[in-house]
Amino acid sequence: MKTNSSLLAERNQHIPQGPFNVHPIFVQKAKGALITDVEGKEYIDFAGGIGVVNVGHCDEEVLKAVQDQIQNYIHTCFHVVMYEPYVELAKRLNKITPGTFSKKTMFTNSGAEGVENAIKIARHATGRPATIAFEDAFHGRTFLALSLTSKMKPYKFGFAPYAPEIYRMPYAYCYRCTFGLEYPACELHCAYFLKDFFHTHISCEQVAALIVEPVLGEGGFVVPPKEYFKVLYKICHENGIVFIADEVQTGFGRTAKMFAIEHYEVEPDMIVMAKSLAAGFPLGGVTGRAELMDHPQVGGLGGTFSGNPVACRAALAVLDLFEKKDLLSRAEQIGKRVLERFKDFQEHYPVVGDVRGLGAMVGMELVVDRKAKEPATAFTKKLVELCREKGLLMISAGTYSNIIRPLMPLIINDEQLEKGLDIIGEAFSELLCLK
Ligand SMILES: Cc1ncc(COP(=O)(O)O)c(C=O)c1O
Repeated sequence: MKTNSSLLAERNQHIPQGPFNVHPIFVQKAKGALITDVEGKEYIDFAGGIGVVNVGHCDEEVLKAVQDQIQNYIHTCFHVVMYEPYVELAKRLNKITPGTFSKKTMFTNSGAEGVENAIKIARHATGRPATIAFEDAFHGRTFLALSLTSKMKPYKFGFAPYAPEIYRMPYAYCYRCTFGLEYPACELHCAYFLKDFFHTHISCEQVAALIVEPVLGEGGFVVPPKEYFKVLYKICHENGIVFIADEVQTGFGRTAKMFAIEHYEVEPDMIVMAKSLAAGFPLGGVTGRAELMDHPQVGGLGGTFSGNPVACRAALAVLDLFEKKDLLSRAEQIGKRVLERFKDFQEHYPVVGDVRGLGAMVGMELVVDRKAKEPATAFTKKLVELCREKGLLMISAGTYSNIIRPLMPLIINDEQLEKGLDIIGEAFSELLCLK
């Protein structure tokens, strides 16, 4: 039987180091919120394939939909012979995304490709070249998406030159406010700063789009104040700029609404989605105002595999599951419990500098000391490793990789959730020598 270490040796021999691995284990089986490795060790999954399996691993309804689809056809390419699942899924997404205006949806293979297409469409529709993105943003690894991404190492380092005409603003990262201000006394200076930005960085007439994550994902589960996006959106609209919400990580129920931007009562011109859209099948999408989406000429958008029918059927099953299992309410419950436990950790362990969250998107920022807020990067890595040894899979996030970001499947049961949280508590105690 192959072991984790024998497979790791083969992996290292045949696969470059660039495609990174957080945990040195290989999966044998995954079901619900549990992963079993090739040596038979079982783990509670608080990573969810980086927020991809909100409906759980290998849900029966998803399997049924996929099996039914592959009996009939797997691929014809939507651009050659069309198929109904693509149309049906677009129809459903046009209906459930925020905004009462007329919408259209196109599909891609990934989140990064969704981001690329959203920017292409915005440029085409406005005839303008520039995009505004944010500090600590993550939008993917293809060249335009990578250029929009903020974190230098390991994502961007050594890959320059990046795509031109990208301008970067500070995000509403209140725990580390760029302007040294405090909410609400700041009166949302970081949002109104966009007006200054048009004078100091790029003229508004040249900006096609502003792309923003409603809650930073890879940037560390940073939740902006409630009025933040309304301000940004209004300034964009006054200046003919397309407002794009990147909901790749926040989307599909993670924040207890289908899309996180709904918490902020903003109706984005375009939404990019991927990850939990299709329960593990590679699928991304862009939903937007019909007049924008229809702007590029016939043949201007597309891809061989984009909107694969098997992935579309999986996504339709995901949408049914959200209704059937009321996963938005479950996300709310999970979020409350995780927040409670993380706040408790904050009370007991000085290394926990900040706890914040929206729905089930709850993060814990670890710092060397609370005053200087120096990121506790090495400690965070040790915590993640010790949790794995104890049977819990987690991933970190943040520009300094010092933020714990649980992305457990929303179908996780209470017992698994509590056990996972207990393991984090035990790991804290052990690492801080409190036991
Ligand atoms: C907010 C956001 N946008 C885009 C992407 C890129 O998606 P993908 O990895 O599917 O290309 C990610 C991936 O983590 C993401 O979190």
